[in-house]
Formats: sequence, structure tokens, C-alpha cells
Amino acid sequence: MVGVTGGIAAYKVVHLVRLLVKDGHDVHVVPTEDALRFVGLPTWEAISRHPVTTSVHDDVARVRHVSLGQSADLVIVAPATANTLAKMTAGLADDLLGTTLLATTAPVVVAPAMHTEMWRHLATQHNIATLQERGVVVVGPDDGELTGGDSGPGRMSEPEAILDVALAEVGGELRRDLDGLTVVVSAGGTREPIDPVRFIGNRSSGRQGVAVALAAAQRGADVVLVAAHVEEGVLAEASSHASVRVVRAGTAAELGTAVSAAAETADVVVMAAAVADYRVDEVSPLKRAKETATGGRITLELIENDDILAGLVSARRPGQTIVGFAAETPGEGETLLERGRRKAARKGTDLLAVNEVGWAKGFESTENAVVLLDGSGTVVGETQGSKRVVADALWDAVLAIRSAE
Ligand code: CTP
Repeated sequence: MVGVTGGIAAYKVVHLVRLLVKDGHDVHVVPTEDALRFVGLPTWEAISRHPVTTSVHDDVARVRHVSLGQSADLVIVAPATANTLAKMTAGLADDLLGTTLLATTAPVVVAPAMHTEMWRHLATQHNIATLQERGVVVVGPDDGELTGGDSGPGRMSEPEAILDVALAEVGGELRRDLDGLTVVVSAGGTREPIDPVRFIGNRSSGRQGVAVALAAAQRGADVVLVAAHVEEGVLAEASSHASVRVVRAGTAAELGTAVSAAAETADVVVMAAAVADYRVDEVSPLKRAKETATGGRITLELIENDDILAGLVSARRPGQTIVGFAAETPGEGETLLERGRRKAARKGTDLLAVNEVGWAKGFESTENAVVLLDGSGTVVGETQGSKRVVADALWDAVLAIRSAE
């Protein structure tokens, strides 16, 4: 069942419903009155192929106000406005969506959408925290363009991302093939300070690492997620899961310390973080002023960071699986695969996920494509799709490698 509330992002939910229907699901749409001001009833009926009503007084003979909730395997509320989140927290049931949400015992996934100020308001944050405590799964919101030209966290996650999380909620209960495993996943981009206000960073959003962590948790693993800089809203997708413990890290050195400590008791370590190869040798304790006498040029001396992955490989215990990522821009005269093979050999990983990156490829997107190489450089998987699909393929390969040992 998809609940739609009164936000402009309702138009994107038409696509979400379409994706669900195409995927073979029987979808009932329950809009609020306000939602219908954005997208009309005929659209919802046409796209879901079911009658659509908003009031508890329609179709009374079939006790629609509870039957929809009782029969649903999954409830998605998208977009979820600040008002709806508040109503859900309070348990208000003054329309069909409200009664349905109270009547259901199915997993509930909400995709908030609102202006940044409303999202950050303590009332909304408190409501979100309460809903998460009750087991509601929150997808997003993303950081990006909002209506009226504003920009910031509050934009509804893309339909594909909502679908992934939602389907994982139902599927996750069936597939528990990582039960009993402890895993460490690093995610996001490290930041190497130059002075108190500046840093050297990279474009990693953390989405792939967070998807790997969430997939592991939903498949039964206990997860330590070591998060460097991750885009706002992305971390919440995994951190709300009861089996995920988040440890924050800023620099490569901090990430290394946190990952190595957690790795001591882990069965699998996945280094999905984009780790800076170099740090600034002398971090200025004060904000560096613009230098006037240097002819328009300055020099920052950089010093190499430890290779965390190499350290993990050399400290690997019997039975432990070490997984790396390799983001590559194909160079002249060498294919992506050749570069990947060389890196797999150099790093000594049990599994290396190689993906192509470029100015417009691989970053800040919800899609990814990877080739999976085992310790000998043999291709053991190739996958393309949402970052969740890639994450699941990675865990499938990890399980295959572990069972072959
Ligand atoms: N990595 C790491 N420690 C570093 C640098 C990278 O653990 N100091 C990890 C990354 O998390 C990733 C893998 O190593 O899993 C490959 O990262 P990448 O930047 O592609 O490799 P590099 O070793 O930096 O190789 P190169 O820059 O030559 O491509």
C-alpha cells in the first residue's frame, strides 16, 4: 500500500507506484485530500489499477478503513509531509491513511519531503526519532533542490531508492543468510584538514557503503558502519537499523583506527570508503590567510596516509574475508578490468569491487555498476543497478568465497 500526502513530490510517487506495479505487486494507493491537490484521483486509479478513496466513509461495507491496513504486506508513505509525520507520531486517524496506518502490522517505510527548516525543526526530528523507535523505516530525505529555488536536505529520495529500501524491508525478513556474522563496513569520503575551516575531500556520497551496511544488517549480520563524510540523509538509511552501530571518522587516520579496532572481531571487512591517499603535512592551527607575496601560488606539502586495506590484509585472521573497492578511471592502453586485476593483486583482497568513475559517472548517483574480482583476479560477478542491488551482489560473492574456503 502506498500512502501519498500533500507535497509537490507526489508527482514522483506516480513513478514509484508504476515501478511497484511493474515489479508485480498489487498496489493500493491511499492519498490524503491534500495529496489530491497535487496529483488527481484518476491518475492514482489508472496507475495502481484499483479504486482510490481518501475518506473512511467510502466503501464502508468492506470496512475499508482497517481492511487496507490489515491486508498490506508493506506500507510506503511518500512523500511524507511534516504534518503527516506528526500525525503518525500522535496516532491520529482522521482520514483513510491515518486509520490504515493504525490498523497495519506490516513494515512501514516513510520518505519525508519538506523544506529544510521544517525537516530540521526539533518537532519533526523528535517525531522521526519516535517513529524510528517504533520500527518505521525512514528513507532520505536527500540533499538537493527544493521547490521555490531553495536547496538543502528535505528533497524526497528518488523513487528507485525508496523502492529498494521498501522491498528490502519485506525481502530482508526472508533472506537471513548473513545470520551470525559480524561485519565492518567503511563508507563515505575522508576529509583531510588544511586549517580549522578547510579540508581536502572527495566526491564520495557514502551511498554505496551505506547500502552495503544496510543490506548486511537486513540479511542478518551485526554491522559496524565506520562513516567518514556521508551525504546528509544517507546515513540514516542504515543507522536506523537495530543491527547497525555507527562509528564516525573524519580523517583517513581516524577511519583507519576505527576500522582496525572493529576488524579484530569481524568476520568480514568491506572498505567502501573513499580514503584520502595523502594528508596535509602541517595543518595550520589558525585559518590560513591569503598569501600576498607568493605570486598567486601556494604550495601545500602532502604526506602519504597508511593504506588501511593493506593493513587489514596483512592482519587478516584465518576465516576472515577482506573486501575492497576500486574506483577507476580507465587509463590509456589499459582496460578497467586490467587495472582492477592489478589492484586486486597488489592489495591482496579476497574480493575487489571495481567500478568505473569519471566526471559524470559513479558519484552522487543511486545507480552503480561493478565487476567483482576474487583473490586471483577472476571475475566472480558483474552487476549493474541500484546501489542496493550492487550491495546484495557483493554479499552473494562474499558468501560464495567463504563457503569455498
Ligand atoms: N584504501 C585504504 N586506505 C587508503 C587508500 C585506499 O584502505 N589509504 C582502500 C579503499 O577504501 C578501497 C581500496 O583501498 O577499498 C582502493 O582504493 P583506491 O583509492 O582505488 O586505491 P589506491 O590504493 O589509492 O590506489 P590508486 O590510488 O593507485 O588507484
